Amino acid sequence: MSQFITELKRSHHNNELTASDKNKEVVLFGWVAGVRDHGGVLFVDLRDREGLTQVVFNPEINPKVHDLAKHLRSEYCMGIQGKVMLRPDGMANSNLTTGEIEVWVQEFEVFSSSKTPPFPVEDQIEVHEEHRLKYRYLDLRRSVMRKNFELRHRVMQAARNYLTEQGFWEIETPILNRSTPEGARDYLVPSRVHPGEFYALPQSPQLFKQVLMMSGMERYFQIARCFRDEVLRADRQPEFTQIDIEMSFIDSEDIMAAMEGLVHSMWQQGLGQEISIPFPRISYDDSMARFGVDAPDMRFAMELVNVSGIFEKSDFKVFQGALSKGGMIKAINAKGKADMSRSEIDELTKFVGIYGAKGLAYIKVTEKEWHSPIVKFFSDTEKQQLQQALGMEPGDLIFFGADSSKVVNDAMGNLREHLGQKLGLIDEKKLSFVWVHDFPMFDYDEKEARHAAVHHPFTAPCIEDLPLMKSDPHRVKTQAYDLVLNGHEIGGGSIRIHSQEVQQQVFDILKISQEEAQDKFGFLLEALEFGPPPHGGIAFGLDRIIMLMTGAESIRDVIAFPKTQRATCLLANAPSPVSATQLLELGIKVEKKS
Ligand code: AMO
Ligand code: AMP
Repeated sequence: MSQFITELKRSHHNNELTASDKNKEVVLFGWVAGVRDHGGVLFVDLRDREGLTQVVFNPEINPKVHDLAKHLRSEYCMGIQGKVMLRPDGMANSNLTTGEIEVWVQEFEVFSSSKTPPFPVEDQIEVHEEHRLKYRYLDLRRSVMRKNFELRHRVMQAARNYLTEQGFWEIETPILNRSTPEGARDYLVPSRVHPGEFYALPQSPQLFKQVLMMSGMERYFQIARCFRDEVLRADRQPEFTQIDIEMSFIDSEDIMAAMEGLVHSMWQQGLGQEISIPFPRISYDDSMARFGVDAPDMRFAMELVNVSGIFEKSDFKVFQGALSKGGMIKAINAKGKADMSRSEIDELTKFVGIYGAKGLAYIKVTEKEWHSPIVKFFSDTEKQQLQQALGMEPGDLIFFGADSSKVVNDAMGNLREHLGQKLGLIDEKKLSFVWVHDFPMFDYDEKEARHAAVHHPFTAPCIEDLPLMKSDPHRVKTQAYDLVLNGHEIGGGSIRIHSQEVQQQVFDILKISQEEAQDKFGFLLEALEFGPPPHGGIAFGLDRIIMLMTGAESIRDVIAFPKTQRATCLLANAPSPVSATQLLELGIKVEKKS
């Protein structure tokens, strides 16, 4: 066994030594981050989790040790014993906390050697992400990555401390669960004991946390793993972490206030940043009207303007067509961007096509004229009203969307955010938190010709809308709220239904039969018969929060072992085929999809 490990022991981390430690005998551990041979004297940067120290092998101090050190290569893991010396005048490195000193090595031991790493363990590297994921342990040695996980740790502890102080208990709920309706596909786990039956991994602990309220736990939280088999994007993972919360005897104001405290403390403890609370609020309807999306990025303006009223009698067939089918026309003013090229506008037309838009009409406003393929269809009154509604000035570029409300909001809302990025309208340092509230209860699914729950079917309707439940369900609003940061939904929750009668009404509208309801969540319905307290809660997407805090481009950079866009783990090679014996035990026969 190594003397370094059993007797000498590490005396310092590699970020700790300063000029005041001069002449100290120290023991450092770490990895070789770089070797430089300066004519006889060998310099090694020794890296551990905390930082770097320059260690020096000098033939004048110990020729044998110096000779052996010539074999050191990148990523060797080693321990050194030596003396802290001030660096010579002018040689200090102000980028390093240990930049004033170096350690002159008296003894060292290589704990293990390393193959040449497939990419350099440095912050700035140009390497395909797949490579980084396959050699994740090397990727995680890079200080940019290590910092992400230190932050993640601190934020998790801040959440735990804050919630504990506020009287919440951390309680775990099952991972092997039954399928509950949350919108995404389930990950299923076959049961050996009950052949042909499956557990579902939780999409969230939703029903259990409600049952915990019915169990009298009053205030619950959990840093909970959730699993959703859904289409992956930059801010989505199949396996992700929620800070999951539920409270009894509260209304939505109480929850929002408590959560503002939580978010404040996460930013304070995580980044040392004092964010301003309470957060502003916007209703779902206003958000859709002004931004076209339910998670608006409010760091910049360029709001959508509904110009349907102006074009009620339009001669332009696209506008006419949209309105006559009950749709709408919205416009945005990209101020001062009239010099945008034709090919850039074509790119944007393609971009809105992703959201179903059939075109992207525009006007370039110049001193002399409105340059546009469509203004020839506009009357003078229409032009005048448009000019006023959009504050059009020479140099401006106006875009139009005309279609069903859904397509227009989707296309123009996403165009707004795309232009915000592309045109540099966003102050990247700004944090724009906003609560979006009063979500509709139901969404109408045209394809399936039935209503679906916008949040989930346990969300309480606004009390004043209860009479509309039967007559006009799509006008019913809920006591639900999402927290949005810079255009990302970082949390969402609601007050829950605690009346069996209302719950039944919701199931009726969703066309969930009594048998189906009993089968899927009979236990919740039954618990509602035994004195359920008024309750509600929320869940924050921890990974998204850390992604936004670090400015990472992908959620994968803040998850130690993430999945790829194709839901695979490149380190462990999951998913993988299993043995015929395992399948036989489970009573499962696999048919390859053709
Ligand atoms: P919801 O489905 O809105 O609510 O999820 C809450 C938050 O979790 C994050 N999130 C994700 N993060 C990464 N990858 C994903 N695939 C992913 N999906 C969601 C988002 C989101 O705001 N049970 C309810 C909460 C409640 O009502 O209390 C729920 O899960 O940041
Ligand atoms: P067209 O009449 O198809 O030649 O279209 C004239 C202009 O209107 C073009 O600039 C199209 O990009 C645009 N346009 C066509 N359909 C739509 C639509 N649904 N919404 C907005 N602009 C459209």
